[in-house]
Amino acid sequence: MEIRKVGVLGCGLMGSGIAQTCATAGFDVTVLEVEQKYLDKGFAGIDKSLAKFAEKGTLKEPVDAIRKRLKGTTKAVDLAHCDIVIEAIIENVAQKKDMYAALDAVVKKDAIFASNTSSISITELMTATRRPERFIGLHFFNPVPLMKLVEVVRTIATADDVYESAYEFAKKLGKVPVRTSDKTGFIVNRLLVPYLLDAIRAYEEGVGSIEDIDSAMKLGCGYPMGPFTLLDFVGLDTTYYITHVMYDEFKERRFASPPLLKRLVMAGWYGRKTGKGFYDYSDPNSPKANKL
Ligand code: 3HC
Repeated sequence: MEIRKVGVLGCGLMGSGIAQTCATAGFDVTVLEVEQKYLDKGFAGIDKSLAKFAEKGTLKEPVDAIRKRLKGTTKAVDLAHCDIVIEAIIENVAQKKDMYAALDAVVKKDAIFASNTSSISITELMTATRRPERFIGLHFFNPVPLMKLVEVVRTIATADDVYESAYEFAKKLGKVPVRTSDKTGFIVNRLLVPYLLDAIRAYEEGVGSIEDIDSAMKLGCGYPMGPFTLLDFVGLDTTYYITHVMYDEFKERRFASPPLLKRLVMAGWYGRKTGKGFYDYSDPNSPKANKL
C-alpha cells in the first residue's frame, strides 16, 4: 500500500520531530494533541529546527512549502483518512491503549498503526485495536530530524506487506531502517541501557568522575556524547521508566536501576529538560557536573 497521509499522535519532543521529518520528506501530516497549547509549543520547535536546516541549505524546498504540509488538530476524527498513524505520546500503557482504541474506531480500516515507544510491548498495545496485523513499532531517536536510525518492529501478528510498507516508508523519510522484533528494548535500548546503567554504577563505585567517564567514552570510543551527557539528554525519568520495563521483562541485574538514578528521579532532577541531572545546566553552554 502507498503511504501519503501521516497522522502523528503527540507533539512533544519525539512527536514534533517525527512530524517535521515526515513533512520534510513530502508527506501530508496531521498532528493530534489534547490541547492547542501543546501543538503551539511543538510547532514552535519545528519552526526553529527548520530554520536551522534552511540556514545550512540542506532543505530541498522553502520552509513555507514544508510547513504547508503540517497541520495540528485536537480532534481524532481529523486523522480518519491517514494511511499511517504514528503514536508518540507519554510512555504510559493505559493512556496509549485508550488512545489506540479511540483512533481504531475513526481511522480507516486499512491504515497502519505504529508506536514510537522505546520499551512498551508493541504486542500489548496492538490488543487495544481490531487491526493486530496492521500494527507495528517505528522507533525513532532523539533528535529525530538528525538521527538516521529507525527501528522497524514486528510482532508475531504483523502482516508481511504491512511490515514492508513501513520499512519502505522509513527509507522515504531519509532514514536508515533496521529490522527487529517485539522483544523489550528492541536492538538499541537492549544494548544502550545496560551501558548507561553501568556508567552510573562505575561512578558509584568510584571508577572515575562524571566528567572523566564522559570524556573517556567520548574520546576513547568516538561516541558523540559520554554516558552522563547522554543520560541527561534522553531524560533520567525516561531512562528510569525504561529500566523498570526491561527489568520486569528479563529479571537481570544489568537492566535494574542503580540507586543514584532513582535518587535523581525522586529529586525531580531529570536532566537537561529540568536544568539539572548529572550536570547542572544553569549555563547551558557550559554544563557543570553536580556533586552526587
Ligand atoms: N534540528 C536541526 N538542527 C539541529 C537540531 C535540531 N533539532 N539539533 C541540533 N542541530 C544542529 C545544531 O544546530 C548544529 O548545527 P551546526 O553544525 O550548524 O552548529 C548541529 O546540529 C550539531 O549539533 P551540536 O553542535 O549541538 O552538537 P553535536 O555535533 O554533538 O550533534 C547530536 C548533536 C546529533 C545530538 C549528537 O551529539 C549526537 O548524535 N548525540 C547522541 C544522540 C543520541 O545518542 N541519541 C539517541 C538517544 S537514545 C533514544 O533516543 C532512544 C530512546 O528510546 C531512549
